[in-house]
Amino acid sequence: MKTLKIAVIGLQFGMAHIEGAMGNGAEIAAICDNNEEHLRFAGERYGVPKEKRFADYRDLLSRADIDAAVIAVPDQRHRELSCAFLAAGKHVLCEKPMALTREDTLAMIRAADASGRMLMVGQICRFTPAFEKAKALIDSGTLGDLYFLESEYAHDYMKIVDNWRADPLRHGVIGGGCHAVDLLRWLGGDPVEVFAYGTKRLLPQVPYDDATVAVMKFDDNTMGKVFVSTGCKRDYTMRTVIYGTRGTLICDNTSPTMTLFTAGEDGMAHEPEIIPVEVNNHNAAREFEAFADAIRAGTPALTDAREGAKTVEVCLSIIESAKTGRPVRPDYTF
Ligand SMILES: NC(=O)c1ccc[n+]([C@@H]2O[C@H](COP(=O)([O-])OP(=O)(O)OC[C@H]3O[C@@H](n4cnc5c(N)ncnc54)[C@H](O)[C@@H]3O)[C@@H](O)[C@H]2O)c1
Repeated sequence: MKTLKIAVIGLQFGMAHIEGAMGNGAEIAAICDNNEEHLRFAGERYGVPKEKRFADYRDLLSRADIDAAVIAVPDQRHRELSCAFLAAGKHVLCEKPMALTREDTLAMIRAADASGRMLMVGQICRFTPAFEKAKALIDSGTLGDLYFLESEYAHDYMKIVDNWRADPLRHGVIGGGCHAVDLLRWLGGDPVEVFAYGTKRLLPQVPYDDATVAVMKFDDNTMGKVFVSTGCKRDYTMRTVIYGTRGTLICDNTSPTMTLFTAGEDGMAHEPEIIPVEVNNHNAAREFEAFADAIRAGTPALTDAREGAKTVEVCLSIIESAKTGRPVRPDYTF
């Protein structure tokens, strides 16, 4: 099987992608960061020779020794870099959120369609062991028909927000909350309407709400709820509860167990089953494996450009609803 030759651009969270690619037998053909120290650090850490280290991503575009690029730069630059690599004939794995505006997601979809190359969005929660197991339990019918799903993204940004994350466009609901929104979309389908409230109490340094609660309905009469708090006083978690007509599953991405209630013959839930699960909330290795498999098979990635754009669309709808006080129906026409 042909070895994939990868460029990784943006070398902070991008280092997880270097490890994910190396762990899957890919070759690191280039690394790139416009911060000299970050470039040197990653180069030395992963043994990437100096001739494969670049400060300007444009120097990579015409290189024949690169099959695919992983884009892990600030969200505001996702469109520019993804479109440039796609136009240069490279496959792209772009970090979440795909972009911060509908205009940008549309441009990225068009660039992917025009290039015939793959654009996958790094919605990494779809590769979290507990959430993969939740998806399998839903698909096998263990929970029956779903009637309510909730997920939360609780992550204290107090120490990491004084940079591009404080941009008004980089609202917490889209920046980190996109994980919980994407998870609900994956498990429950596309919400047809959302309604949200927001409040700002904890992060004086950001110009947007630091806590938001959104309720939503799906077209099969299922309900959902997403809670996002980017100033919370607790450990990071994505606590998730899935209620179905035959059972209920409680899980998150930071616990070694999941709790499953199922109804017995009498229709009652008795003792829950405690299911052990690996804790791996940033499973870049599995995400890269899915990217590489889709490239090799020529099939769409699990989180292809339209999937990434739909998640952004729901996040933008939640932000709009909290701002206007009105329900919003996401527009999935791309
Ligand atoms: N999947 C996840 O759970 C997860 C976790 C963290 C970050 N992210 C995403 O990864 C991306 C990067 O986040 P981060 O935390 O690493 O940010 P960061 O600000 O810590 O690091 C970004 C890096 O990109 C470099 N950079 C910026 N612009 C560049 C450019 N034009 N060309 C080359 N290098 C450039 C910076 O010098 C820096 O080294 C963001 O999109 C973020 O949302 C995802």
